[in-house]
Amino acid sequence: MESVTATQPTSLGELLAQRHSSRAFLDKPVPDDVLESIFRRAQLSPSSCNSQPWHVYLTKDAGTRRLAAALSEHVLSSEGPEPDIDLNPKFLGVHLDRKRACGMALYASLGIERTDYAARQAQMHKNFTFFGAPHALIVTSEKLLGPAAILDTGGYVATLSLLAQQHGIGSVLQGAVSLYASFLHTYFGIPDSEAVVASIALGYEDNEHPVNLFRTERAGITEVVRTFDH
Ligand SMILES: Cc1cc2nc3c(=O)[nH]c(=O)nc-3n(C[C@H](O)[C@H](O)[C@H](O)COP(=O)(O)O)c2cc1C
Repeated sequence: MESVTATQPTSLGELLAQRHSSRAFLDKPVPDDVLESIFRRAQLSPSSCNSQPWHVYLTKDAGTRRLAAALSEHVLSSEGPEPDIDLNPKFLGVHLDRKRACGMALYASLGIERTDYAARQAQMHKNFTFFGAPHALIVTSEKLLGPAAILDTGGYVATLSLLAQQHGIGSVLQGAVSLYASFLHTYFGIPDSEAVVASIALGYEDNEHPVNLFRTERAGITEVVRTFDH
């Protein structure tokens, strides 16, 4: 296993505390051996019956810029999203509150007013250019293996983002991109047997950009864990 420099976090606790969604990146590609190391170790993620149902379509540098230009144009000119899986959750109650709080923190970090719909849309559209990241990862899962495979793939992408963090590399998961699954199938030649589950923008974070400076909050464990002793 590769050595980890002193400036990089070494414990899982530190990694979890440091990881956050990055939405502005430096124009600096991630070396191939680092990408390889991340993918190799992400393969250690558990999956249902060890089926390992995930696939990754990776772009680099100019390839990412070409994808970004094509996707961005497609989103502006298409009739709307064509996802492989229903990614349209019904946010209600506390979940709606959390969604609003995270959106408000994002827009406040950029000085965008709540009522400034055009600026919010422009920021949202940056998803489709991968926020300027040098790498895009389109993650798919085997359709025949159903929801269990989607769960497995979720674990895989979470592990991958922590491994990236260990190398000082930022990332953000992008449900917004997965909504355009049909375009991605054509662009990459993704077979119909795979469902687009996630997209990840990945690269060295611009850690001075205001959009990367806010942090989201988490519920306390008493809201999550219900302990039974009978
Ligand atoms: C399934 C999923 C989809 C997401 N989609 C987007 C997205 O389309 N655009 C975006 O900027 N962030 C997206 N995020 C990032 C979440 O907003 C972020 O993880 C959450 O607010 C917690 O913040 P943190 O990652 O900084 O801890 C997504 C995260 C997940 C897990």
